[in-house]
Amino acid sequence: MAKTFYITTPIFYPNAKLHMGHAYAVTLTDILARYHRLNGEETYFLTGSDENTAKILKNLDGKSTETYLEDLSLNFKDLYKKLSISYDQFIRTTDKEKHWPGAIEMWKRLVEAGDIEKKKYTGLYCIGCETFYMEKDLIDNNCPIHKTVPEKVEEENYFFKLSKYTADIKQKIKNGELSIIPEGRKNEILALLGRGLEDVSFSRPKEKVPHGIPVPGDPEQVIYVWCDALVNYISALGYGRNNSPQTPLLQSREGLPETSLVVREVETNSPSELFDKFWPADVHVIGKDILRFHAAIWPAMLLSAGLPLPKNILVHGMITSGGVKMSKSLGNVIDPDELIKEYGSEAVRYYLARHISPFEDGDLTLESFKEVYNAHLANGLGNLVSRILTLSEKYLEKCPDIPEKSDFMEYFKYYENFEINKAVDYVWNEISELDKYIQETEPFKVIKTDEEKGKKLISSMVLRLYRIARMLNPIMPETNVLLKKLIKENKAPEAPLFARK
Ligand code: MSP
Repeated sequence: MAKTFYITTPIFYPNAKLHMGHAYAVTLTDILARYHRLNGEETYFLTGSDENTAKILKNLDGKSTETYLEDLSLNFKDLYKKLSISYDQFIRTTDKEKHWPGAIEMWKRLVEAGDIEKKKYTGLYCIGCETFYMEKDLIDNNCPIHKTVPEKVEEENYFFKLSKYTADIKQKIKNGELSIIPEGRKNEILALLGRGLEDVSFSRPKEKVPHGIPVPGDPEQVIYVWCDALVNYISALGYGRNNSPQTPLLQSREGLPETSLVVREVETNSPSELFDKFWPADVHVIGKDILRFHAAIWPAMLLSAGLPLPKNILVHGMITSGGVKMSKSLGNVIDPDELIKEYGSEAVRYYLARHISPFEDGDLTLESFKEVYNAHLANGLGNLVSRILTLSEKYLEKCPDIPEKSDFMEYFKYYENFEINKAVDYVWNEISELDKYIQETEPFKVIKTDEEKGKKLISSMVLRLYRIARMLNPIMPETNVLLKKLIKENKAPEAPLFARK
């Protein structure tokens, strides 16, 4: 039986269009998913939207909540399609059939474990973060992330006994049972756990979020918001709906361009089969701002419910623009749609994969993008492809025999370590080596004096180019397919692969 691999993105708040920060998270996850498929693993890739939030209520603009959310989730999916994101399922937390049973089941388990308690509470609530803050955590009375004054809230809420699980989680993170990557983030969460965890509010009064999931047995309260959102990782696999009628779960990969390597599949697994097969998750990909929720609250919920913990949490940094975090509230967002329109989605994927480190903050400006595009895509890869394929079309009768397999051990190791940027460095290193080889051996001259030798040289270059095309599979899936096709047809591209800007 093939090894399985389950990977997730955070589910995004649908209060605005996605920006490059979000595009980074899904692209990083997509690259990892594509690598694991390439490696022969049965891979499941989940993404979605976090819809039961009060954030959206002031954006409705006359639309019903339902229509507003529907439109925004379509907008998310549209971007995913443009970026060739090969997700298997897009879960929406307003989905009563797919998500709600899981959230309700989880709630019941937490109650059964004696970990839910109702209390009157006064606290400082940041709607941006969807979380309560302690006074000591504020900076100049402001939320440390959104720089806004949190709202003073006095409510009767259900609380989850997070404090009960602190020691256990700390132990599991320390011994690697729950691995937090990179090391710096692991230390950060261990320090937080070391200071002890407060119990957290897991519900809000219904009038605050009328479209939320009612608390079982108390219709005046809704399950809120992390308790609801985090469960998506298992509700999507069928947790809580074991006896429900079986509906096909796989709704995506449909719509991806034909050239994409992803094969359309028909989902035949029942929801509980998916859960049995894929839980615990191999990797939750998250941004550093939601580390606490994923590495403390989520494991505590799973422990309370008697479920296994995810294996890895990969914590990426923030995309900054000109050194400042890209965020809608700060007004410095770069719209992925615009970059895609100007440069194409493969270039966007390339930039995110190579020029942003998966472990640290990374900067992106329109200027840096253009520079990198011209240097590495128009000149680097694009140029190399034209040079080699022009020669081969002219001097070879057909494409040389392509070996069925190549050795990618060294290259694949980077993916296993989540070092996506280094994986791309590795490919571009091969590109420049091949470039150098052309310059040194001058096949365009040799072919005129010694045809046999010239042909041999060109053939070897075509084969090296094919190897490069293969390696591009997880990073630039469209280029991977196109390049392999051109090589096999022994044809130079009619127009440059990446036109100079
Ligand atoms: N809905 C919650 C997540 C629930 S997961 C069970 C949420 N949504 S969000 O839309 O605000 O953010 C989703 C992800 O986008 C987070 O991982 C966050 O780190 C990431 N990013 C938001 N801005 C970002 C950048 N500027 N750069 C990189 N990632 C960024 O939090």
